[in-house]
Amino acid sequence: GADVNRDVEDAQGVRESAFLKACRREPVPHTPVWFMRQAGRSLPEYKKVREGIPMLESCMRPELVTEITLQPVRRHGVDAAIYFSDIVVPLKAIGIDLDIKPGVGPVVENPIRTRADLAQLRDLTPEDVSYVTEAIGLLTAELGAIPLIGFAGAPFTLASYLVEGGPSRNHEHTKALMYGDPQLWADLLDRLPEITAAFLKVQIEAGASAVQLFDSWVGALAPADYRRSVLPASRKVFDAVAGYGVPRIHFGVGTGELLGLMGEAGADVVGVDWRVPLDEAARRVGPGKALQGNLDPAVLFASTEAVEEKTREVLDAAAGLEGHVFNLGHGVLPTTDPDALTRLVDYVHTQTAR
Ligand code: CP3
Repeated sequence: GADVNRDVEDAQGVRESAFLKACRREPVPHTPVWFMRQAGRSLPEYKKVREGIPMLESCMRPELVTEITLQPVRRHGVDAAIYFSDIVVPLKAIGIDLDIKPGVGPVVENPIRTRADLAQLRDLTPEDVSYVTEAIGLLTAELGAIPLIGFAGAPFTLASYLVEGGPSRNHEHTKALMYGDPQLWADLLDRLPEITAAFLKVQIEAGASAVQLFDSWVGALAPADYRRSVLPASRKVFDAVAGYGVPRIHFGVGTGELLGLMGEAGADVVGVDWRVPLDEAARRVGPGKALQGNLDPAVLFASTEAVEEKTREVLDAAAGLEGHVFNLGHGVLPTTDPDALTRLVDYVHTQTAR
């Protein structure tokens, strides 16, 4: 189990990687860099291997997952790999009728809006996602000293897809349920942490060295509602994986007002979007946590000089942090020039070499 994997990790030097050191707030040889959504549509080699294979099917093929996960590591020289999957994969694995529609995102056939709809949810077992265990076995063998980040969707963001039935700008059905039927909302958010935690455990037991919980859309909530209606469920996920000792990263978009609470939920590293400078984010999060972020992904469409200037601002704001993992403030945009990402990795590494 996990102990054996930790031994393998040590032998390969993963534990001493700049990424894990930064997550643990230890001194680093350079600021580590990885990008949310680094594997995917910005890469021609990704489009090539994905040709004709639906997104969810590609997540279930261990050799393909391994290749796609490794592509940005080879091309950009990033300091960590992120397991290629999607936040709705565990929901699909327990039998929820859903699909990922190209250019749209996850679409759920029978949205959860009534108590009877809860019957769609059951616990996730490792056997439901045996392809994940297999893929991570292949991956860690290839990655050597480069850490692998496992991930899952946080309860609120998963609930949003389940209740809305698809992507949503205003999350109106989700909020109607949260405010209008608090007991049903509580029961829904009671079930999701078990599924999410089980999915993260599979990834850690198979060899993932860190995990990120994506609460991408939770920035839609006011702090008091987050604290009352969401934080307890996210905390259950973090508590369930605390015993492994792997860093736990927590990220959402537009979460400037929630950063302190997202740390309180149990994160070791708090992800920050581009709207809050990292020094201000550190004040909001408080001591004892590393930060991850936070270059605006749209900046990569500007000139190299402009990218370097904006990156310099991020690094300057991060200078006093206890630990900093460089990342974008959200995922890589699909039409990003991959060479701009490679140049950005080099720039951060040379600017922060100690
Ligand atoms: O490199 C990586 O980051 C790993 C791969 C990854 C995917 N989804 C693959 C994917 C990760 C980490 C995710 C997480 C994810 N999925 C999140 C959280 C991150 C974030 O962006 O906030 C969310 C909200 C989803 C749900 C989702 N899946 C959306 C909104 C979409 C459509 C938008 C899009 O980018 O196309 C997806 C589809 C999806 N997930 C694709 C990929 C590569 C595109 C599908 C395709 O290539 O056909």
